Amino acid sequence: MKILDGNTLANEIKEGLKKETASYVASGKRPPHLTAIIVGDDAASKTYVASKAKDCAYIGFGSEVIHLPETVSERELLDRIEKVNQDNATDGLIVQLPLPSHISEKKVTHAIHPSKDVDGFTPSNFGLVCRGEGGFIPATPLGILKMLAYYRIPTQGKHCVVVGRSNIVGRPMSVLMSQPGMDATVTICHSKTADLNRHLLTADIVIAAVGKHGFIAGEQLKKGCVVIDVGINRIEMNDHPRGYVLKGDVDFDSLKGVCDAATPVPGGVGPMTRVGLMLNTISAYSSSLDVAK
Ligand code: GUN
Repeated sequence: MKILDGNTLANEIKEGLKKETASYVASGKRPPHLTAIIVGDDAASKTYVASKAKDCAYIGFGSEVIHLPETVSERELLDRIEKVNQDNATDGLIVQLPLPSHISEKKVTHAIHPSKDVDGFTPSNFGLVCRGEGGFIPATPLGILKMLAYYRIPTQGKHCVVVGRSNIVGRPMSVLMSQPGMDATVTICHSKTADLNRHLLTADIVIAAVGKHGFIAGEQLKKGCVVIDVGINRIEMNDHPRGYVLKGDVDFDSLKGVCDAATPVPGGVGPMTRVGLMLNTISAYSSSLDVAK
């Protein structure tokens, strides 16, 4: 079974972005800039935002993390978003999810200006992506597309089963896999799917984005299939220095002898998601240069 290594590819892409950024700066332009807003103290969200800032620093992007307290009002958050929307020195704006329950995720997501929406969460970007008319592809689907291309995974005419229908991964991924150029036949499965195993057994490509460790195992899959595991589940482990380990939605060890190729967790889709955000940030930056011309 081939391991689809996301770290190596992400590093390669980051080196390219670093060079591209350096050449913008050498020509007298400011570097791309990403602003992240985080509300509250969710441990996983803080880790994600810190790693995004670290990626920016490595590539040479400017970045800022706006940390707001759990008690911030929806109005205050919307005002902060509007301020960043108006700021010409910021190219990309993300608001880390999830948000506290008193804040509407929908209102917040919709408030980000589409030209800065490097997460690809606004209805405008989602619509453009679905129509194949550009727009920012959310970071995880973008990272997966890059990975499929790099490892030359055939998709044309293949049956792709996407498990999970979130707006961040499953739903956009299902649309993208069927678009011209990818040309897969897509089935999207979710918690109410009647017979998941029947679909999985006919899948040439499985994209698992459920958020439950060990949800899918090799015995449910067709021989020769390719598995893309989007799950990043924290499994508590007291004797581990961090107190937890990261596991995917798929039982990786059970895939050997069944799959042709699979992404590991960690080191598969995760690093590709991180680099997806960086790719969108430099796209937002270069589009704003075009607008300024
Ligand atoms: N929470 C989990 N994944 C993401 C992501 O890709 N972007 C944001 N903003 N929040 C998230």
